[in-house]
Amino acid sequence: MEFEKNILCIGAGYVGGPTLAMIAYKCPQYKVTVVDINPERIARWNSDNLPIYEPGLDEIVKAVRGRNLFFSTDIERGIREADIIFVSVNTPTKTFGAGAGMAADLQYWEKTARQIRQYAESPKIIVEKSTLPVKTAHAMERMLQATNNHVHFEVLSNPEFLAEGTAIRDLEYPDRVLIGSRETPSGLKARQELVEIYANWVPRERIITSNLWSSELSKLVANAFLAQRISSINSITSLCEKTDADITEVARAVGTDSRIGDKFLNASVGFGGSCFKKDILNLVYICRYYGLEEVADYWEGVVKINDYQKERFVLNMLTAMFNTLAGKRICIFGFAFKANTGDTRESPAIFVCKRLLEERAELVISDPKALENAREDLQEAQGKISYVEDPYEAVAGCDAIAVLTEWDIYRQLDFKKIYGSMDKPCFIFDGRNILDHRGLFEIGFNVFPIGKPPLTHLK
Ligand code: UDX
Ligand code: UDX
Repeated sequence: MEFEKNILCIGAGYVGGPTLAMIAYKCPQYKVTVVDINPERIARWNSDNLPIYEPGLDEIVKAVRGRNLFFSTDIERGIREADIIFVSVNTPTKTFGAGAGMAADLQYWEKTARQIRQYAESPKIIVEKSTLPVKTAHAMERMLQATNNHVHFEVLSNPEFLAEGTAIRDLEYPDRVLIGSRETPSGLKARQELVEIYANWVPRERIITSNLWSSELSKLVANAFLAQRISSINSITSLCEKTDADITEVARAVGTDSRIGDKFLNASVGFGGSCFKKDILNLVYICRYYGLEEVADYWEGVVKINDYQKERFVLNMLTAMFNTLAGKRICIFGFAFKANTGDTRESPAIFVCKRLLEERAELVISDPKALENAREDLQEAQGKISYVEDPYEAVAGCDAIAVLTEWDIYRQLDFKKIYGSMDKPCFIFDGRNILDHRGLFEIGFNVFPIGKPPLTHLK
């Protein structure tokens, strides 16, 4: 079959894989190829055991793989054949040199730009899918145009707003698609071409266009705002615990103001995920670079409150359990950074578990999807750790449970049975406020929610 367009994506990760699978699914007239430098990852995309867990993803990949969606390691061929190239390689926080711990590490981006420059023989539209510092497109343009004068590259910014666990729904019914371009004739033409791709399934009024820099910046700001809401509500949890106010009631009362809204006000042990911290630090770094110290400090506060919240959770456990955790067995319910994903990047569970091990607690970690990643995250941690998927088995003989991920399965457990199998006194620290606290207290547990008065049998 002749395809209308060849679309390539470089980077088969959490963003590139699902996004391009959706484009292939919605647009059978395009040939979509996803390439990656990691052959194991590509092999898994071509198998029944996809490298990421995302509800609904398996079905979509099965429907289109081999039809108009292809996974490959042949980056050179992919670039030669493509009309449009999405770039979705990772941009972690720099760990070395200037801006270490703050700025984005753009080495993979630059390497990818060089590869494109090397192999491209015809004009290409390059789409930034990865979240990047403002003005990266400019650096990209200069890099692309450095030698290959006869080939025209148009760089667009098209940040991805999908959230893990709901990626397929977010891709199918996005709140908006954002496309930034140069406002030159060729920039506007390329922008229009990308609009046409999304218009295959996204209503036109939801496809927003802007200049390149607004688009790049909007992605950072959107994530900063979302994280800020969580830090705002989390900052109030400590006050609730001191004053007998209840954070769920406060969040409901505040969130019913339509100007504020009720989403993203779930108090928690802290936010995690690959994006929030990285993107805020990126924003902070750019502000500092331009001498905007007050603005930088303001946004840095969002990350500081998040760190404080994680530490506070551990200290609450320590205080509640008679100021010593040494030798106590603690069962961790959930290691993923949120429910419905196996991803553990920046998960608050990593911090909490390491701190509990420092206190010489013994850990039994349970999670329906994230145990493989948990093992890797804690491989260098000192102390006694076991990994048990079945929550009933995991909890037997433990002194305490810490709920760190809001998996639905934890709401449905038989806590009477669990209570019977644990050492007494039994503690539950609900880092996601998902359990029936009163019911647990009545069974006999000492219950410590986030931002609510504890319910304890201890005198
Ligand atoms: C990444 C970034 O972290 C995020 O900032 C951005 O918004 C989108 O891309 P994600 O898809 O979650 O997000 O990253 P990851 O799952 O690590 O995938 C990146 C993929 O790129 C990896 O499979 C990696 O092997 C691949 N890669 C990396 C290349 O193909 N070439 C490279 O040079 C570097
Ligand atoms: C986020 C953005 O939502 C998405 O638009 C962007 O493209 C990537 O970053 P993601 O990190 O996948 O997505 O998940 P998200 O649902 O935003 O959750 C991030 C963290 O915040 C999780 O640890 C989650 O548990 C936590 N969270 C979220 C809360 O603690 N409380 C809330 O009310 C909401």
